[in-house]
Amino acid sequence: MEHVKELLCGVELDRRAAALLTGAACGVGALVVLVGKVSSHQTAMEKIQRARNRRSESLQRAEEAVRRYKESLSMSELTKQLKDGSLTPDDVLYTYMEKTLETNKKLNCCTGILLESFDQLKTVTSNKDGLLYGVPVSIKENFAYKNHDSTCGVVINLHQPAEKDSVLVEVLKRQGAIPFVKTNIPQGLLSYDCSNPIYGQTVNPHNHKKTSGGSSGGEGALIGAGGSLLGIGSDIGGSIRIPASFCGICGFKPTAGRLSLQGISSIYRGQKSVPSSPGPMAKDVDSLALCMQALLCDHMFYLDPTVPPMPFNMQIYHSSKPLRIGYLIDDGYTQPTPSMARGIREVKALLEQAGHTLVPYSPPKINYAVPDLLVKGVLADGGYTLLQKLKGGPVDSCLKEQVFPYSFPTWLKKTISFLLRPMFPRVSAVFSALCGVGSVQELWQQHADVEDYIRETIAYWRSCNIDVLLSPVIGPAFNFSYCGKITSAVNYTMIYNLLTFPAGVVPVSTVTAKDDEEVKHYKGNYQDHWDKLMKHAVSAGEGLPVAVQCVALPWQDELCLRFMKEVEQLVKQSRK
Ligand SMILES: *[C@@H]1O[C@H](CO)[C@@H](O)[C@H](O)[C@H]1NC(C)=O
Ligand SMILES: *[C@@H]1O[C@H](CO)[C@@H](O)[C@H](O)[C@H]1NC(C)=O
Repeated sequence: MEHVKELLCGVELDRRAAALLTGAACGVGALVVLVGKVSSHQTAMEKIQRARNRRSESLQRAEEAVRRYKESLSMSELTKQLKDGSLTPDDVLYTYMEKTLETNKKLNCCTGILLESFDQLKTVTSNKDGLLYGVPVSIKENFAYKNHDSTCGVVINLHQPAEKDSVLVEVLKRQGAIPFVKTNIPQGLLSYDCSNPIYGQTVNPHNHKKTSGGSSGGEGALIGAGGSLLGIGSDIGGSIRIPASFCGICGFKPTAGRLSLQGISSIYRGQKSVPSSPGPMAKDVDSLALCMQALLCDHMFYLDPTVPPMPFNMQIYHSSKPLRIGYLIDDGYTQPTPSMARGIREVKALLEQAGHTLVPYSPPKINYAVPDLLVKGVLADGGYTLLQKLKGGPVDSCLKEQVFPYSFPTWLKKTISFLLRPMFPRVSAVFSALCGVGSVQELWQQHADVEDYIRETIAYWRSCNIDVLLSPVIGPAFNFSYCGKITSAVNYTMIYNLLTFPAGVVPVSTVTAKDDEEVKHYKGNYQDHWDKLMKHAVSAGEGLPVAVQCVALPWQDELCLRFMKEVEQLVKQSRK
């Protein structure tokens, strides 16, 4: 193993340095007699300094070599080496544990180490045939792991350790994976920031003055910094895709219902309008596909027979027939930032050059979908459940502005909505939706409206005759405290939770100085409060990752991943 050799090399150099030091000490004695104290002292000091320099240089170079070696290992190489025994699960777990501990000091991305992972090393060989044999996996805080809390960041849930593992954790273990750390989330999970009063704020690996995004923000930060190769998050409005975009990694939200939700905590259990999906996050698309393949196994279908017993279709993932791809630059609601729009334009050009057909796409009835279906669906209870869960502890600053109006009485929300309507129609519509649905009849009507909207959207896809869709994803990473203020930004991602479509994010570029300059002239489609805030949220983003979103129809998870892989490869080739 190369990195061990490098380390040994470092030790060898150290020995040579020590020998040199001894030599230098002898030399000093002779010089005292011949030349005199002062100059001999100087010579000795120079020699010592040279030896010290050599030592620090060797240490630094060894560290760099180790880092390069570890970073260059992709998941597929890692699993291969674990399988053939050239790496052991111990090597790998201790390596990533060390990186995670280092990363956490800088980014505050972990809520606790799963110390059981060390014990799992003793038994993991019994799962040697598993697809993830020996792979350390990070998991989002709200996934049940026996004897650990799943708080969702709210105080009321503290000190209630899970009685057993969630289905996905059980399946990961059966496939030989080693869950080793739980990662941070925003309070209540219903935010795309990543801060809570228990564990604090997670910061972005590429710029510590920006947020990691959320709600799977601890995952985004940890994987983005190289502390974990594979993580599991959950997504109800972009909670996998937004931190993936902000942190420069890949993230995939499968079709709602494809993976088991058993043992994953949420604040809104029972909310049926906008379904949540668990899914993988990693540095590359192949890792996401391998994770999906591992999870979609008989063991999961046995543990949770409510998920369809559809194994991963490798043939579709590896298919290469040219695609008809819808593309969207501006949904007419949240104007994309300059780097978001550039990302789409560049990827569109690459896809066309590669022989695919690109077709303009405009989402049906967007002004209606977001407030009436999304916000009203998630907050059908007028925010009551979330407010109950926030009792008994402080409200995090990332959430204060967002939840403040939830507690207004319905007449006040209605009045504000009425007063804002002429000047700020978008904010007015959301205030109206914050009233909730009011009655069972209206809830049923809301569910029926969502069903109609899904049908209409599918009919529109059929009329465009498209296989997949290329869409923006919000980015680059926001300054702290802006996520809770600009709730409109989630609609690029949340719409696909409402629709139940699979959707994933791939990093394609980084913010340029020119993008940053153009942000200064950002006006927005509505020029309201949210649009003004947006300009500030993404200011000074040079160097941050830029991503695009890939979408497919329900149950076409493999096609969505294939499309993501294609985007990833085309971007990689274009850089060469
Ligand atoms: C976001 O919401 C707005 C307003 O409802 C809509 O116009 C836009 O198309 C949505 N975005 C997407 C990607 O659907
Ligand atoms: C956003 O954060 C950056 C630091 O990364 C800072 O330079 C900039 O002034 C901040 N913008 C606002 C509006 O707070």
